Amino acid sequence: MKKMRIMRLLVMLSILVIILSACSGNNANGDEKSSEKGGDVYTFKVSHVTQESHVWHQTALKFGEELEKLSDGRMKLEIYPASQLGLEKDMAQQLETGSLDFGFLTNAYMSTRQDSLNAWFMPFTFKNLEEAVKMRESEAAKQMLEDLNSQGLVGLDFIFAGNRHILMKNGHVSSPQDLKGKKIRIIGSPAIQEFLEKVGAGPTAMPLSEVYTSLQTGVIDGIDIDLDALVTEKYYENAENLTLTNHITFPSVIVMSQKTYDKLTTEDQEIVKKALKAAADWGVQQAIQRENKNLEELKKHGVKVKELTDTSAFDSIAKEVKDKYAEKSPVIKKFLEEAKQ
Ligand code: BEZ
Repeated sequence: MKKMRIMRLLVMLSILVIILSACSGNNANGDEKSSEKGGDVYTFKVSHVTQESHVWHQTALKFGEELEKLSDGRMKLEIYPASQLGLEKDMAQQLETGSLDFGFLTNAYMSTRQDSLNAWFMPFTFKNLEEAVKMRESEAAKQMLEDLNSQGLVGLDFIFAGNRHILMKNGHVSSPQDLKGKKIRIIGSPAIQEFLEKVGAGPTAMPLSEVYTSLQTGVIDGIDIDLDALVTEKYYENAENLTLTNHITFPSVIVMSQKTYDKLTTEDQEIVKKALKAAADWGVQQAIQRENKNLEELKKHGVKVKELTDTSAFDSIAKEVKDKYAEKSPVIKKFLEEAKQ
């Protein structure tokens, strides 16, 4: 009888051990579990501000696939799109504490935290998106990523939403005169603001969520926008004059929490970097293809498209902005030199 009771106790204890070990997954937030194939198991979290149809979300999905493939299923990715985890400043804070593992943050927001990132917003540096994405491989771009270490972030790569253009309720843009006194929505960033101020426009920073109504009601006269956002958010319903200015490009900075990174073995850090590189390479090519597809789509919707082929009317303003930023930041100076090559 006593033997039976001991046996029953042992069986119950073994069940308890099995249940407890199954409950503890080694995710990025500290629980521990090893896979049968060896190596720890992780469920990482990534967040970004765009909708699920956006190329940045598609790149995050690709990153998840690559992680699973390269880690033999040990690493998974949970994606939180459309600011589900808060504003970008909240995401940055979560990355610092390690409660968020990866962020696809707009370069615009990050340029308010790290001056050198304004390099991507130096006016009229790229004629098209292909030229801009090549600068991902530049020494200056690599330096920008490395400098993020001082913020508790591991800078991994840049991907792109497209180049930025101007959509106006009335008229196209061929010189600064066409923008004089016009209220133009921008995403907040020092260099974008400065360029439009020097042009004589009234740059108005506001989140994407307010743009549709502001255009509709005439609170703003136009917007600085990439084609992907223009198509997804249907701004062409309230303004029909699109000038393809390519005045800046619009990247996302992909960052990882230093806290999460430090928890990984060197081999796992390599897996993460390899998976991210594969996804980002794919993402930038997608962005280039979408640039053309989006333009066709806009034409189908009756948008009046004009290409700004001669940008010389903006030369002196663009030079003023570039000189000022190059003087402030050696990385921006180097970026502009490399972009000329
Ligand atoms: C914007 O605010 O303009 C924006 C943000 C993320 C992706 C595309 C556009």
